[in-house]
Amino acid sequence: MCGIVGILSSEPAAAQVIEALKRLEYRGYDSSGVASLGEGGQIERLRAEGKLKNLAAKLSGHPLFGHSAIGHTRWATHGKPTEDNAHPHATERVAVVHNGIIENFRELRNELIAEGVVFKSETDTEVALHLVDRALQRSGDPIKAVQESLPKLRGAFALAFLFSGHQDLLIGARQGAPLAVGYGENEMYLGSDALALAPFTDMVSYLEEGDWVVLHRKGGVFHDRTNAVVQRTVQKSGAGAYLIDKGNHRHFMAKEIAEQPEVVGRTLAHYLDLGAGKVHLPVALPFDWKSLQRITITACGTASYAGQIAKYWFEALARIPVEVDVASEFRYREAPLEKNGLAIFISQSGETADTLAGLRYAKSQGQHILSVVNVTTSSIARESDVVIPTLAGPEIGVASTKAFTCQLTALACLAIAAASARGTLKAGEEEALVNDLIATPGLMVEALKLESHIEHVAHDMAKATDVLYLGRGTSYPLALEGALKLKEISYIHAEAYAAGELKHGPIALIDETLPVIVIAPHDAIYEKTVSNMQEVAARGGRIVLISDHQGMQGAGLEPAAKIEMPDMNPRFAAIAYSVPIQLLAYHTAVALGKDVDQPRNLAKSVTVE
Ligand code: F6R
Repeated sequence: MCGIVGILSSEPAAAQVIEALKRLEYRGYDSSGVASLGEGGQIERLRAEGKLKNLAAKLSGHPLFGHSAIGHTRWATHGKPTEDNAHPHATERVAVVHNGIIENFRELRNELIAEGVVFKSETDTEVALHLVDRALQRSGDPIKAVQESLPKLRGAFALAFLFSGHQDLLIGARQGAPLAVGYGENEMYLGSDALALAPFTDMVSYLEEGDWVVLHRKGGVFHDRTNAVVQRTVQKSGAGAYLIDKGNHRHFMAKEIAEQPEVVGRTLAHYLDLGAGKVHLPVALPFDWKSLQRITITACGTASYAGQIAKYWFEALARIPVEVDVASEFRYREAPLEKNGLAIFISQSGETADTLAGLRYAKSQGQHILSVVNVTTSSIARESDVVIPTLAGPEIGVASTKAFTCQLTALACLAIAAASARGTLKAGEEEALVNDLIATPGLMVEALKLESHIEHVAHDMAKATDVLYLGRGTSYPLALEGALKLKEISYIHAEAYAAGELKHGPIALIDETLPVIVIAPHDAIYEKTVSNMQEVAARGGRIVLISDHQGMQGAGLEPAAKIEMPDMNPRFAAIAYSVPIQLLAYHTAVALGKDVDQPRNLAKSVTVE
């Protein structure tokens, strides 16, 4: 988490830093800061608690005119989100910004204190600062100082250093957290991702694990972990193609929910041969679906719910057993994996530390690694054997919406491809399934038309202190996703259960104050869900039923609220049913006046354990 940026500019760089940080605020917004070099080459710094707008306001009162600068937006790990703990951290010789965690910071801090260093913050970052500063005092050479210090740091981090008196020098380092170098005309940039650099350039290189880079305005020299000079490919990032604004929407989340028919359609077009009514994967797979005994899916949060939904599709359509686990558990539980199995990793950012560690474990166990990622230049994408991109475009709202439905879309295509290759589909079934998928963007458009009604339902839900979500089949993981969405942006406590599990405990929670969201398209197990709904109604629970026309007719009771979805084949209904789930959470949070795009304590890219 945290976003870092560095700029060697031909104009005052602090304003450019703010522009770049705006695009990195999704990585954290506990505090922010900028450091640049004044006319005499001295380090000048401004930092502010809270969101970036606080720093921008400070900067307009005290402009920084230096042409070389670094900046930071923070998601607090070590130390409270105070100004003292805000980056950049600086001595009079060097300033640093940092993303990630320096794991051996206590040990290093004690050593440095013993040498007489006085620490000014509670952060782990400050040890990197003082290590470099001490080395710099000895040699007077910034490059040597960084080179000497980096091997002493353990953990996963990206760093950018600025040096007083060195107007044409920035040094960046990467170990476990992403860092991109951007190339401008007589300007060079560093950033946590290419999106941050998109206002200035779309020509970028990525540091590989253990790399460090020395930047001057004329270019950069990359070094690997052995300090050998290495070449890193310069590529077009494509990030500039995306407009990062809210359009006519009040929040990024609202815009991203509304964009779903388009981006799901784009993802489908990438994986389907629309004319032939078949799945057509545009990449060669290094494994044979027929010989797979099992698929292991690993991800975190919303992405893990996409994996849980996909499990139903792979098992039912392709008859392959699937195991799904959250990455923070998978990475440590020493799961035995049969050699040459398939391990799928799902991630919007492609940088989630636990998912990346899970990937590395699976690789060490001889698995074929397939990743479903939104950021195709990410670490997870780069370490995979096959990348299945979700074409959602940048997702800025912290709560994942369009990335989730694009993950589901890509996974549905993969499940059909697997089924087709394994010969588990009946004649004509592939075309029918593909047609169901093709209908999905249109169904999402219909679902979006329910927004004002859902907003009304949400106003009522905003009065609740607890909410229960129920579903069966793929609606069960979707219920988990609904509860997560509501929790993270409205701060209302929510839980989700497989509807059949209700009677095994959670039914005790039900009284007339508890909204119960029942997700129940009219499918083969609809009647079972109806029975569970009756159990809720009998105990006075306030049911909000999300179903289709037939489902509403067959409910046998009058729910407190109904959200009637268009009719659809239930197989892939989870994709379109995501829309009302998201809108319900969104409007509840808006009704409560919460900060929908930047909910408290969260960050979009979770690069720490
Ligand atoms: C919730 C949400 C998170 C992410 C999770 C994984 O709305 O966004 O639960 O899904 O942190 O992130 P990625 O997909 O980037 O690996």
